[in-house]
Amino acid sequence: MKITVVGAGAVGASCAEYIAIKNFASEVVLIDIKEGFAEGKAMDLMQCASLNGFDTKITGATNDYSKTAGSDIAVITSGIPRKPGMTREELIGINAGIVKEVSSNLIKHSPNTIIIVVSNPMDTMTYLVHKTSGLPKNRIIGMGGALDSARFKYRLAEALDCPTSDVDGMVIGGHSDTGMVPLIHKAARNSVKVSEYISAERMQKVVEDTKVGGATLTKLLGTSAWYAPGAAVSGLVQAIACDQKKMFPCSALLEGEYGLNDLSIGVPVVLGKNGIERIVEIELNDEEKVKLAESAEGVKKTNALLDGVI
Ligand code: LAC
Repeated sequence: MKITVVGAGAVGASCAEYIAIKNFASEVVLIDIKEGFAEGKAMDLMQCASLNGFDTKITGATNDYSKTAGSDIAVITSGIPRKPGMTREELIGINAGIVKEVSSNLIKHSPNTIIIVVSNPMDTMTYLVHKTSGLPKNRIIGMGGALDSARFKYRLAEALDCPTSDVDGMVIGGHSDTGMVPLIHKAARNSVKVSEYISAERMQKVVEDTKVGGATLTKLLGTSAWYAPGAAVSGLVQAIACDQKKMFPCSALLEGEYGLNDLSIGVPVVLGKNGIERIVEIELNDEEKVKLAESAEGVKKTNALLDGVI
């Protein structure tokens, strides 16, 4: 398994680190436009190999996509991250051109690759790759729901005062402060619905804290988060590389599923060696259906800003 991570910034480097630590890939190639940066990050990470006990070979290259040839999976983290007070949508002007160019460079050297998009606004960047790359739809996946669900579980565990391993929950919809749809009625602590333990008011706070999970960190850190995004990506990469057939909410191109068409948005999918093995249509209640439809409207509005790029 050869995996390329484009963008050796904090998210890309965390991604490479978690992939290596999980020790399932033979090779990770880091690419960055900043001279020497990816090479430096790769060397630093490789010096962890004996300390952290992994055998994955990590190399870096400055914008040389020939080094990525034959990648089974490619992760795109390139572009600018948001600054405090910015929405993910505000990044579209700069990031659209970058993501389009990066995906075309990747496919030139790895025509059979599976692409995972992390750059923001993620659902729209994923849609852009669907529209411009020519890859089959199962091989283009947006990372958002896995991260948002991890943030939801963190907030649920906080409200329940329990370990996160006791909690199960999922966030679907767009990866934006307003678009996320945490599925509160399905969230459970060891099979018992969390509504049995958490009041409606407290649950409202869990939902709000989840939705602004990224924005809260951006305010604290001065830039976008990286540990949880990197860990979430590594989970998707592992599910594909090891053909695990695990279910994650991911941004997938919808063609009628959930009554939605011609957009990429977060829904549960099964990931395996073919990328998206299938989209899972779970039963939503009326409130969840309305929220998902509203979220889709928001994503479509952002997609409309791609005029001229696709
Ligand atoms: C975040 C970025 C990855 O939510 O969108 O932290």
